[in-house]
Amino acid sequence: MPPTDENIIECRDVTVRFGSQTVLDSLTLNVKRGERLVILGGSGAGKSTLLNLMAAETHATSGKILIDGKNLCAMPEAERDEYRKSIGVLFQSGALFQSMTIGENVALPLREHTDLGDDTIETIVKIKLELVGLREHAHKLPSQISGGMKKRAGLARALAMDPKVIFYDEPSAGLDPVSVTEVDQLMIGLNETLGVTTVVITHEMVSAFRVAHRLVLMDQGKFVADGPPDEMKNSDDPLVYQFVNGLAEGPLADRRDRDAYTADLLGETPAL
Ligand SMILES: Nc1ncnc2c1ncn2[C@@H]1O[C@H](COP(=O)(O)OP(=O)(O)O)[C@@H](O)[C@H]1O
Ligand SMILES: [Mg+2]
Repeated sequence: MPPTDENIIECRDVTVRFGSQTVLDSLTLNVKRGERLVILGGSGAGKSTLLNLMAAETHATSGKILIDGKNLCAMPEAERDEYRKSIGVLFQSGALFQSMTIGENVALPLREHTDLGDDTIETIVKIKLELVGLREHAHKLPSQISGGMKKRAGLARALAMDPKVIFYDEPSAGLDPVSVTEVDQLMIGLNETLGVTTVVITHEMVSAFRVAHRLVLMDQGKFVADGPPDEMKNSDDPLVYQFVNGLAEGPLADRRDRDAYTADLLGETPAL
């Protein structure tokens, strides 16, 4: 589905602090209904933290996250629960339950959140598994399928409740190139056929450019660039250029604190 001009999620001045560390620094981001938005950024940039907030898994220190105009941060827990049922998440560590079959894993959200009967659930599970090409594998345990298939099974589970938005946290991590392409095609296909708004965190650049209608680049808890693939690919902004081309040298923040390291080696308390 082509992106619309309507915001499905608006993050306004969102800040997250863990102790003295500011992980998200007054971020503003609009996610358009129907778009495939890719969030880029180095390790520790704050990508998963942002995704967990938008998925109502955690709370912001300050700021607003508007969902269809309603502030997720101020919603009572019951309403946040309802919102969670309307989205799908493929977490970075999103493991399947190892003792359950693929089919049972996909059925789980339906058993937990709906009163549907077994026959109906079984039919829905078949449809979701067919969407990700795993219908014949419903009876297998996670240990009996490949890494790429596990990702797709996780995706079928995320699709169980017909989400309006799916968040993917590094869906290509640990996959071989063919499986990466398959997962990319699935993300694009689900967006195009079902109109699911798609938010993807990745640092696989080939994948990012294949999937995105729009990319944003995060560094030190802020967005430092925002644009369509062509613009980002040809950008002469040194930050974007460094990230897109995977250069070791450049202005992107090096998260390791060298002074702290030196002081640690010398057994000193670093000067502030
Ligand atoms: N629950 C937490 N408690 C303390 N620090 C956290 C927590 N979650 C994330 N962080 C810190 O926030 C920073 C950003 O983390 P994260 O959002 O996971 O980055 P990314 O996904 O971009 O790699 C990191 O320095 C991480 O250690
Ligand atoms: Mg992460």
